[in-house]
Amino acid sequence: MKSFFLHHFSLLLSLSTIFSSSAIAFDYADALSKSLLYFEAQRSGRLPYNQRVSWRDHSGLTDGLEEGVDLVGGYYDAGDHVKFGLPMAFTVTMLSWSVIEYGEEISYVGEIEHAFEAIKWGTDYFIKAHTSPNVLWAEVGDGDTDHYCWQRPEDMTTSRRSFKIDENNPGSDLAGETAAAMAAASIVFRKSNPHYSHLLLHHAQQLFEFGDKYRGKYDKSVGVVKNYYGSVSGYEDELLWAALWLYKATDKEDYLEYVINKANSFGGIGWAITEFSWDVKFAGLQIIASKILQEKKHKKHIHIQEQYRSKAEHYICSCLNKNNGTTNVDRTPGGLLYVRQWNNMQYVSTAAFLLTFYSDFLKNFDQKIVCHGGIVDHEELFNFAKSQVDYILGSNPKNMSYLVGFGPNYPKRVHHRGASIVSYRENKGFIGCTQGYDYWYNKNGPNPNVLIGAIVGGPDNQDEFNDDRANYVQTEACTYNTAPLVGIFAKLNFLSSPLIASF
Ligand SMILES: *[C@@H]1O[C@H](CO)[C@@H](O)[C@H](O)[C@H]1NC(C)=O
Ligand SMILES: *[C@@H]1O[C@H](CO)[C@@H](O)[C@H](O)[C@H]1NC(C)=O
Repeated sequence: MKSFFLHHFSLLLSLSTIFSSSAIAFDYADALSKSLLYFEAQRSGRLPYNQRVSWRDHSGLTDGLEEGVDLVGGYYDAGDHVKFGLPMAFTVTMLSWSVIEYGEEISYVGEIEHAFEAIKWGTDYFIKAHTSPNVLWAEVGDGDTDHYCWQRPEDMTTSRRSFKIDENNPGSDLAGETAAAMAAASIVFRKSNPHYSHLLLHHAQQLFEFGDKYRGKYDKSVGVVKNYYGSVSGYEDELLWAALWLYKATDKEDYLEYVINKANSFGGIGWAITEFSWDVKFAGLQIIASKILQEKKHKKHIHIQEQYRSKAEHYICSCLNKNNGTTNVDRTPGGLLYVRQWNNMQYVSTAAFLLTFYSDFLKNFDQKIVCHGGIVDHEELFNFAKSQVDYILGSNPKNMSYLVGFGPNYPKRVHHRGASIVSYRENKGFIGCTQGYDYWYNKNGPNPNVLIGAIVGGPDNQDEFNDDRANYVQTEACTYNTAPLVGIFAKLNFLSSPLIASF
């Protein structure tokens, strides 16, 4: 533990000014605990004895039955009950990455077991869904029939048809992201559960091979996903991303060679992009590649490294508004990164994560970034990431926490079927498909169940937020909004803790 404290020591000194000048001190430990609770509210399947979100019960217990597979479990991605593979996998990748980078800070709050459980709930499902080397179940349920109803998950009467990708119906993006998630999770469980870690790695390697050998976009093979989680950026980013995570998990040069050799043809060093999301992985790829390739043993790849790094820093500079004109990310008057109207918060939380990670990297290598608008050091980068997290927690013109259940003022009408209807545990009377709309959706009052730890879509480009259940653009929450913040909440808490301040 000692060396770990020392490792953070110099950063702490430099940060002390930032913390003392901040008007509002947030309880980041509370934010962290709440964010992990949220994943229990999103669970599908048979809930375990230690389930803490008590307004939820078992659901989706026959998922996969029509197709003769066991697809019970996994996560609902948002306020509906479809199990969408791509955003679920990205959620698990980001949760795992949070634990890999900030696991000790999460342990410091006593939350590491909950973080492990949140990851494992996803990876247990991926193991089930990967029924043979070249078959991966991509989705259970479909958006059209699901959205027609407003029901609790426990009452679900909608179609639970399942859809898969295979050799004839490829889906390299889905296979790639699921491989990345399982490879990242294999690193998380290496010490605490080596057998499980090995199993995850085995699946990850097979999935990557499958995705690489049978190329195609999954939304061409699984048409029902198109209007919900269609893959706009294609599959090249996910294949590079998967290879990079497999390299991190195995240290095998083959995977790194893939990231190097295909850097150009797959757009890894071509695309300069200003968002990082369940669809578009380039910025995350470029940022991790910059760090890995910085190591001395990879010197021979310096030419590719520089190109990855230039694109990574394009992303960073754009978040800091230090690129040339149009390639900067917009900001609201209150200072929030603003990418687009619908669920903007997802881009804020991924940006906060990447910026924090890159800040650590710059600090460890004692480097700075040269943006068009000036030189940026690790402190400025971290300070900006913190400002985004603080905005989410209530430091904004509405004094509203967009983390549900945090502080005195948060969204009360989250667009979420289960949270907006009386708990199944309280009232087991069946609530039918359209009955839910009539009695619960259109109610003006607050949701009967608080979806603690969810991060909603958030305010518009003028910092305005309308807490209305029908306003799903702003009031729906998604698992991949919260996942990247798990690590940063832990880091911010660690840095502001009294024990550390006494150094
Ligand atoms: C930024 O704009 C300036 C002036 O228009 C131009 O000279 C420069 O090449 C641009 N830099 C980049 C990185 O595009
Ligand atoms: C937010 O809080 C600040 C400081 O307490 C106060 O001055 C301001 O009026 C509040 N704004 C809103 C919209 O409640």
